[in-house]
Amino acid sequence: MNLFRTKPIDSDHTRDTGLKRSLNAFDLTMLGVGAIIGAGIFVLTGVAAATHAGPAIMLSYVLAGTACACAALSYAELAASVGGAGSAYGYGYAGLGELPAWVIGWMLVLEYTVSVAAVSAGWSGYFNSGLTEYFGAGLPAALLHAPFDPAHPGGVVNLPAAVIIALLGILLATGAKSSARFNTVMVAIKLTAIAIFIGVAAFHINPANWHPFIPPAEVIPGGVSGFNWDMSLLDFCKWLMGLQGEGEVRYGWGGIASGAATIFFAYLGFDAVSTAAEETKKPQRDLPIGILASLTLCTVLYIIVSGLLTGLVSYKELNVAHPVAFALEQVGAHAAAGLISIGAIAGLTTVMLVMFFGQSRVLFAISRDGLLPKFFATIHPKTKTPFGSIVLSGIVMVILGGFVPLGKLVEVANIGTLGAFVIVSFGVIALRRSKPDLKRPFRTPLFPLVPIVGVLACGYLTLNLSVFTWAAFLIWLVIGQVIFFGYSRSRSLLAQPT
Ligand code: ALA
Repeated sequence: MNLFRTKPIDSDHTRDTGLKRSLNAFDLTMLGVGAIIGAGIFVLTGVAAATHAGPAIMLSYVLAGTACACAALSYAELAASVGGAGSAYGYGYAGLGELPAWVIGWMLVLEYTVSVAAVSAGWSGYFNSGLTEYFGAGLPAALLHAPFDPAHPGGVVNLPAAVIIALLGILLATGAKSSARFNTVMVAIKLTAIAIFIGVAAFHINPANWHPFIPPAEVIPGGVSGFNWDMSLLDFCKWLMGLQGEGEVRYGWGGIASGAATIFFAYLGFDAVSTAAEETKKPQRDLPIGILASLTLCTVLYIIVSGLLTGLVSYKELNVAHPVAFALEQVGAHAAAGLISIGAIAGLTTVMLVMFFGQSRVLFAISRDGLLPKFFATIHPKTKTPFGSIVLSGIVMVILGGFVPLGKLVEVANIGTLGAFVIVSFGVIALRRSKPDLKRPFRTPLFPLVPIVGVLACGYLTLNLSVFTWAAFLIWLVIGQVIFFGYSRSRSLLAQPT
């Protein structure tokens, strides 16, 4: 049986696929910004500056942004020429074959599921601190944390996390346009919060905080020496070869790279724009605009915000849960700090919304091809949304957000996405060779340099992720293979006699 059989490309990108075409370039750009700006900038930047890169976290953003830009250009080419709600899964099916397509789809499912569940926990924390601030009391700890969470003993359910995911599922089921409108309002709130941060922080910078810009590499005092699950795959390889004996190291150039692998999470989401292909009025024109405009805007904001953040207070103090608001508090800008929290809640909400959207479209597309049970491809007759996928993936994410402490698993979203980006970049090269005459309304510039840099940069970032993350990722891929060979392969529409 041919595991690399490809699916013919549907050249009519505006035909009726059952989903409602209601989105335009502006909606898509807002969806992109909605998915991108969230926990990464509001939480991880501070942590990564404190524990990985120091003020050079700005360079980590440049490095991760470069990898994303190459992947985004590849996405833009494939979204405009191949299209489809399955996004990278569909491009893989057209260019590389069924098994690689399944693997990409499975990685996207990992990215979206883990992102929504992980961000819901952050949302819950912000929501509860808002309750405490405005109503004088928050929820009891038992209703704020998943059971068996080593960091928060005594939890029974993370109720706000579960409820917000369920509410977003209901919103998504009501229609893509109504979801996009809600998203646009929330995006406006978070962009306002970021503008306030930039405006206020610019007047409180202490340039001394930027020195040394790249703190010299140092062995972490009290850090583990020898093998540990948190070491990067690169360090693990060095350790295996006996090259690394001094224990855990942070800062320096290595810290910039490991910082980039961590804050890569901040860039996740622009790929979700491409899952709206079948709900876009002019997909061939608007998808590249939505993907590239949202990523460009967010990259510029990230570099500015991370630079200002490390200029406000010493990077050493930023290892806290709310670094952006915290830094403003430290320089006495209390009112602005309060507004940042509102922006963060709005930001985390849209991240979950758009990732959930992407999840339902990818599952819908995989199921439509026969590789997953038919229920995932059910469309609601009135709202024209992929109802089956929204309900089933919603249930899984509610359970994860409410009852499973994700902790270190968050980085698994990064590796899933990086894996998909590597294959998408590779897919551009493969398709240019196998289908040179395909109509390409958008072409990746500097071909083949851009996709090659995309493969190398994304691949390099994966090497900087921890051994734990790699192990979890490999387990996920094995589960995917079991499903593919146990269920999907024989039920694939391509396997049916015509
Ligand atoms: N990019 C998204 C965030 O930072 C996942 O929350």
